[in-house]
Amino acid sequence: VPTPVRMTTTALEFKLVAKCSTTRARASVLSLPHADVLTPVFMPVGTQGTLKGISTKQLEDLDCRIMLGNTYHLGNRPGEEVMKEMGGLHKFQNWNRALLTDSGGFQMVSLLKFARVTEEGVLFESPHDGSEMLLTPEKSVEIQNGIGADILMQLDDVISSTVTGKRVEEAMYRSIRWLDRCIMAHGRATDQNIFAIIQGGLDADLRTICVREMVKRNTPGYAIGGLSGGEAKDAFWRTVAHTAPLLPENKPIYCMGVGFAIDLVVCTALGVDMFDCVYPTRTARFGTALTDAGNMQLKHSKYATDLQPIDADCPCMTCRTYSRAYLHSILGQETVVCHLLSIHNVAYQLRLMTRMRDAIIADEFPAFVRTFMSTMFAHSP
Ligand code: GUN
Ligand code: ZN
Repeated sequence: VPTPVRMTTTALEFKLVAKCSTTRARASVLSLPHADVLTPVFMPVGTQGTLKGISTKQLEDLDCRIMLGNTYHLGNRPGEEVMKEMGGLHKFQNWNRALLTDSGGFQMVSLLKFARVTEEGVLFESPHDGSEMLLTPEKSVEIQNGIGADILMQLDDVISSTVTGKRVEEAMYRSIRWLDRCIMAHGRATDQNIFAIIQGGLDADLRTICVREMVKRNTPGYAIGGLSGGEAKDAFWRTVAHTAPLLPENKPIYCMGVGFAIDLVVCTALGVDMFDCVYPTRTARFGTALTDAGNMQLKHSKYATDLQPIDADCPCMTCRTYSRAYLHSILGQETVVCHLLSIHNVAYQLRLMTRMRDAIIADEFPAFVRTFMSTMFAHSP
C-alpha cells in the first residue's frame, strides 16, 4: 500500500473533558467549524437534507449540534450543481450547526442490487430510470466539498458484515487505497475534516492492519465501519472492543450506523465518541416510542386509556403535551403522529448521550450502565 503524498490538515479540535476510570468511556468537546459538539454524541440522519419527521428548528430546540447528510442521495437530488449554487448544504437546509456527510459507500450495501464495485469506484444504476452514476473516491470528495459539511467521510468499499472470506480482505485494502485517493482529492482541508473508515469485517487481524495503515494517513478522526449490519451482537461488540483501543487517543472515534440504545451504551463504554442511525425516526414511523425500559408500541390497546406521557422524565414537546392515549388514538390516522414520535425518539437518543456524558464527568458511569441495563431488561413497557 503506497503512503499518500499529502497529509491531511485538521479543522477540528478534540478536547478531553473526563475519562471513566473503569471503562474506556470519555467525555469531550469536539470543536468543529459550525459548532462545539459535546461527546459522546448521537447524530440524527437527514437523508434528503432534512430529517424525516422533524424540522431543523426543532432539532435546534433539542440542542442537537450535529446531524448527517448523505452524498449519494444529495448528489442525485437536488444535485451537486444546485448544492454549490445554494452555497452548500448548511444554507440549503437553513442549518447553521455542524454537519457530517457520508461518502455514499454505504449505499453499496443498502442498494446492493443496483451497485457494482471496481477499483475505479462504485457504479450505481438508478432504480428510477436505469441511468448510471460512477462514484469514485475523487467524485465523492468533490460532491462532499460542494456540500461543505464540517466532516466528510472517505469513500470506502463497504460489504455486508455477514460476508466472509477473501472479499473482506479485498474491501479492507481497497478502502485504504481509496482513502489515499480521497485525501489527494480533498480540496477544503482547512475548513472540512475528512475521516478515514476502518474496515475489515469481523476479523481482528484485518482490523488491526487497517488501523495501522489508516493511522499513518493522520486523518482528523476515524470511523469504525462495516458493522451493525445483521452480524451477531457479540461479534459486533468484540470488533469495536478490539478496534477502538488501537486508534489514537487524541482523536474522535465514530461508530457508523449504530443507534440502538443498548449499543450506544456498550460502545460508549468501549471508547466510541460518535454515532449515527436512522433508527429513531424510522421506528417512529411504525408507531414505536423509545424508552429506557425498551420499545413502546403505541398501537397496543393497553395504551388506549393511558393518560401518562410516553416518559414522564422526558422534556420533549411530545411528552410535555400529549398522553399515550392521545398518541394511540391518532396512530395510523394522522401523519402528525410520526412527527410527534420522531421528536420524542430523537430527544430520547440525544438525552441518553447527555446522561452518559454527565455520568462520565461525575465519575459515575459504571453505576449509570448498571441502572440502564437493569431498567432495559427488567420488563417490557
Ligand atoms: N454507514 C454504516 N456503516 C457504514 C460503513 O461501513 N461505511 C460508510 N461509508 N457508511 C456507513
Ligand atoms: Zn419525549
